Amino acid sequence: MSPHEFIQSVESLEETGLRQIAESPSEQALTEVRNRLVGRKAGEVTRLMSQLPALTPEERRAAGAAINRVKALLEERLAARAEELRAAATAAAPRADLTMPPRRRWRGARHPVTLVIEEIEAIFRELGFTVALGPEAESEWYNFHALNFPADHPALDLHDTLYLDEGVLLRTHTSPVQVRTLQRYAPPVRILAPGNVYRRDFFDASHAPMFAQIEGLAIDEGVSFVDLKATLTHFARRFFGPVKTRFRPSFFPFTEPSAEMDVECRLCGGAGCSACKGTGWMEILGSGMVHPAVLEAAGVDSERYTGWAFGMGPARIAMQRYAIPDIRILYDSDVRFLEQIGS
Ligand code: PHE
Repeated sequence: MSPHEFIQSVESLEETGLRQIAESPSEQALTEVRNRLVGRKAGEVTRLMSQLPALTPEERRAAGAAINRVKALLEERLAARAEELRAAATAAAPRADLTMPPRRRWRGARHPVTLVIEEIEAIFRELGFTVALGPEAESEWYNFHALNFPADHPALDLHDTLYLDEGVLLRTHTSPVQVRTLQRYAPPVRILAPGNVYRRDFFDASHAPMFAQIEGLAIDEGVSFVDLKATLTHFARRFFGPVKTRFRPSFFPFTEPSAEMDVECRLCGGAGCSACKGTGWMEILGSGMVHPAVLEAAGVDSERYTGWAFGMGPARIAMQRYAIPDIRILYDSDVRFLEQIGS
């Protein structure tokens, strides 16, 4: 091969090489072109370079410069075309439409009554109370007899409920958990028992036939009414802030003496409004010293132990806390309402 022929071969390699690179339709085709042109073993550049030793030193200088220039040029274009093909492939792939508005997710929120129950539990937990649970389908004995309701006593009228079977009913209060707990655990006992209860009540602004209650029970040696009053007053202050409270004498068959606790109405600040029926006070719980007959029914020595109990309605408390004017709103499951309070 003469130096002239060598240069011509280099020039024609440049021309066809550049065209093939430019016309490669895919990354795979480009790889084949690359092997053919600059492949280390069988590529055109390698083949031409192997001819160089046949030339004289002077001829070799010009020929070498020519083939090196073309080799560098081809490699540069190969890299550029590879980049081009890669970019095109990415652009063609289906992509997420980032301009599409996202769907809002409903994250869920805790019900106001649940929030109140959890808050009350937290306050009493600080005072050493634990949580105990009892069944909603309860026996007549636990719901009434063990709690010192005499048969046919007028107090039963307030506790009209649904009987599921002979002697089995939907519990009308959480007080049966007092007896169940004392049967299982020896004093000292300090428990909170939240749960649903059922009564034959009309559904109106302040009543519902099914509602949550929280029972509290504290039994030990030497426990007195002072403990009841101090603990429940402490609770009211922790829960509502600095608020006026009052105790009114009341009656429950299972406590003696009995008292209801009121807090100053949060909706009107004590002035009197429709929520507190104009009294300026909101009843939040019933309470009293546990009747000796209840302790005895549960197998606890009533000469040695005394204690107190309360039952409160977290729905009423939630109404006060969140200024909810009608209890029925709590049963509507309207997410717009629940979201306002729960999140
Ligand atoms: N169980 C009573 C009720 O449902 C409330 C209460 C509980 C009263 C404990 C005194 C002691 O009304």
